[in-house]
Amino acid sequence: MILVTGAAGYIGSHTCVSLVQAGYDIVAIDNFANSKPESLRRVAELTGKSFPVHAVDMLDAEALDQVFGAYDVRAVIHFAGLKAVGESVAQPLRYYRNNLGSTLNLLESMERHDVKKIVFSSSATVYGAANEMPLKEDMAVAPVNPYGQTKAMIEQMLRDVASAVDGFGAALLRYFNPVGAHPSGRIGEDPQGVPNNLVPYVAQVAVGKRPEVVVFGDDYPTPDGTGIRDYIHVMDLADGHVRALDWVLDHAGTEAFNLGTGRGSSVLEVIRAFERASGRTIPYRVGPRRPGDAPVSYADPSKAERVLGWKATQDLDAMCRDTWRWQSQNPNGYDPA
Ligand code: WQD
Repeated sequence: MILVTGAAGYIGSHTCVSLVQAGYDIVAIDNFANSKPESLRRVAELTGKSFPVHAVDMLDAEALDQVFGAYDVRAVIHFAGLKAVGESVAQPLRYYRNNLGSTLNLLESMERHDVKKIVFSSSATVYGAANEMPLKEDMAVAPVNPYGQTKAMIEQMLRDVASAVDGFGAALLRYFNPVGAHPSGRIGEDPQGVPNNLVPYVAQVAVGKRPEVVVFGDDYPTPDGTGIRDYIHVMDLADGHVRALDWVLDHAGTEAFNLGTGRGSSVLEVIRAFERASGRTIPYRVGPRRPGDAPVSYADPSKAERVLGWKATQDLDAMCRDTWRWQSQNPNGYDPA
């Protein structure tokens, strides 16, 4: 069995579809603090296969350990964690307690039950304010916010465990900007409250939930002045997790992999792509820069291609089309219409 933590979340649920379709048996856990059980019901609907789901808060070491006792866990894919950068700056202790505490409980259960394989949901945020592009895995890790610090610290924990335990293997997947939705439109990103990220916000403007997009600055040193990011389709990301799981089951040690396209898109390019996808006009105005934003961030994804045999396939128009299908078919996300 593959234990998937944070399975009901945006990337977790899409990865569960790909895992099941790749023939893996999964057990899903989530505390549903920032997700809904409906997402996992739809994963079962899409794959035609049911799988065990347990409401577990990973800060409850006993409840977590019972899952390891109940199933023959071969490997873990660890998504669970708080992930809002701005919130982490305001509430650092909550982020350290939750993200590090839950991971320590996980690693101790893995040790007790002799589970030695993990795929970890890391983030390009660990590169911090590195300004040499494209970002490569051997560049310095220097996060600039508590959220990014928790990801970097967990990467280090995994390196240290892999050094101490024979046969322990860890794949550290550094996501760039995940966007899009399963092409069925049945699962997608369901942010609670005001979306922090650009694409879900643009989608809510397109569907009429919000009046306009505020572009955070158009005076960056980029072709059109707006921020550039490496947006990657969530289904490409899901496939990257399946490849990483295949790899880690067969390898010991720790490797970081950038999961990005290697191409950057500006805020204005995203807005235009979303207008093409939705057929709607997206009103926007330019506001002040958001503190902490880098002008440009995009990946060198060649290591994942070389080692995992993985490469992103979907372009920005496909990301926007799939987001639009999800958003327009589910204007209230997983809540009933
Ligand atoms: C993208 C671009 C903004 C909103 C964040 C986290 C990162 C990861 C992915 C967890 C930037 C601009 C945004 C808006 C805007 N999450 N923007 N108006 O900041 O690259 O990455 O999400 O791992 O850790 O930092 O993504 O979508 O917030 O911003 O103009 O309303 O869109 O300035 O240039 P970001 P984002």
